[in-house]
Amino acid sequence: MEKFVINGKNSLSGEIEVRGAKNAVLKILPAALLSKETITIKNFPHIEDINRATDLLKDLGAKIELDGRTCTVTISKIKKSSLEPEFANKFRASIMFVGPLLARTGEVKFPHPGGCVIGAGKRPIDLFLEGFEALGADVEENDDYYVVKAKKLTGGDYFFTTSSVTGTESMLMTAILAEGVTTLKNCAMEPEIVELANYLNENGAKIQGAGTPTITIRGVKKISAGEYTIIPDRIETGTFAILGAATKSELTITKCNPDNIESLLTVLKKTGVAFDRGLDWLKIKPAKKITAYDIKTHEYPGFPTDLQSPYTVLMTQAEGRAIIHEVIYDRRLLFTDMLVQMGADIIMCDPHRAVVNGPTELYGRKLTSPDLRAGIAIVIAAAIADGQTEVGNIYQIDRGYEKIEERLQSVGVQIKRENE
Ligand code: EPU
Repeated sequence: MEKFVINGKNSLSGEIEVRGAKNAVLKILPAALLSKETITIKNFPHIEDINRATDLLKDLGAKIELDGRTCTVTISKIKKSSLEPEFANKFRASIMFVGPLLARTGEVKFPHPGGCVIGAGKRPIDLFLEGFEALGADVEENDDYYVVKAKKLTGGDYFFTTSSVTGTESMLMTAILAEGVTTLKNCAMEPEIVELANYLNENGAKIQGAGTPTITIRGVKKISAGEYTIIPDRIETGTFAILGAATKSELTITKCNPDNIESLLTVLKKTGVAFDRGLDWLKIKPAKKITAYDIKTHEYPGFPTDLQSPYTVLMTQAEGRAIIHEVIYDRRLLFTDMLVQMGADIIMCDPHRAVVNGPTELYGRKLTSPDLRAGIAIVIAAAIADGQTEVGNIYQIDRGYEKIEERLQSVGVQIKRENE
């Protein structure tokens, strides 16, 4: 087990580069199952969740070659149509492999997916299962696993009662080989969905409306494969922007797309954090004073739940009272208890709302990373804090941020990776 040791009160400067989006790769890898041809994925990030996804894909028969940031995947023959628990239990996005596998083989056995514990109990997959049924599949639920079967998938209509990112993407990938037309309503609109649809359309799919609430898919007989460049990770971009803001530093973020974090940038302006931006860069300027500003997480293009934890840290440095309203997940505010241990003044009103009174001095503590986004938030808090912070369970952070300590060191964060 490894930990991060961070000596705080850091003042940062320089440039930090954004890697390819985790939540885009986690969809393009399953999409590779739709064709026998080789897919070439560029700007490939080296993070643990992706390693878990490639392990799963190899178990299904994929040949994967990695050369720096270029990854090629060929699945000429699908070896099996079950997702083994030893792979699927390790990450939530394993559910993304079910639809394409169903479309290719007609039957899939899989366990409930693993992943961050950020929703009550097991994070639900009801929308996925209902979606498969809407396309003519039978779903069988057992204690430890599910079996989805469809001799033939046929187009159907499905309305998402909750807008779901992976649910929308799962339906895109399942419906493109179904016979007939599928109409999806109340779809999620995240940029990663648009990217996935564009890639599939370039390779023979007929998807219309991705990025809007209604998507129409005309089934085709065959999908080919091609080249796909992963978009910059918008959550990593936002995380670095908040790091710069919270440490009151000048920090330039490169290889990013500021357009995809418009909600955060609008909120930062309201808190008094100034920045310059270009097409693929963002420069955060040192703020003299940060002012508290309330947020409510929302599906894209609203304020992303994945940036809520870092933003809550920023609010500990802001003057005034900020209400953080986490709408999407009911366990994502629990980490604020750790900020309180560091000296923050935060009151949890209920699982979805917390009040942050600031500014407060933070102090180094020994803490454990509860999940990916809360983990990086604690690293940001540690960079501001007085004294030394130890963060354990950093596998959670490695799941989504590539070699984060090396990249943070290069801009002045005093962070080291050590064995526990
Ligand atoms: N939901 C259901 N039933 C389902 C699926 C989801 O009720 O079958 C609910 C969830 O419990 C949640 C809401 O729908 O309350 C939205 O969840 P969504 O399905 O959109 O989340 P997701 O697709 O599982 C993706 C990202 C998450 C990100 C959310 C919200 C991937 C692989 N994951 O998850 O990313 O937080 O969208 O934007 O794309 C992360 O990167 O740290 C992360 C958790």
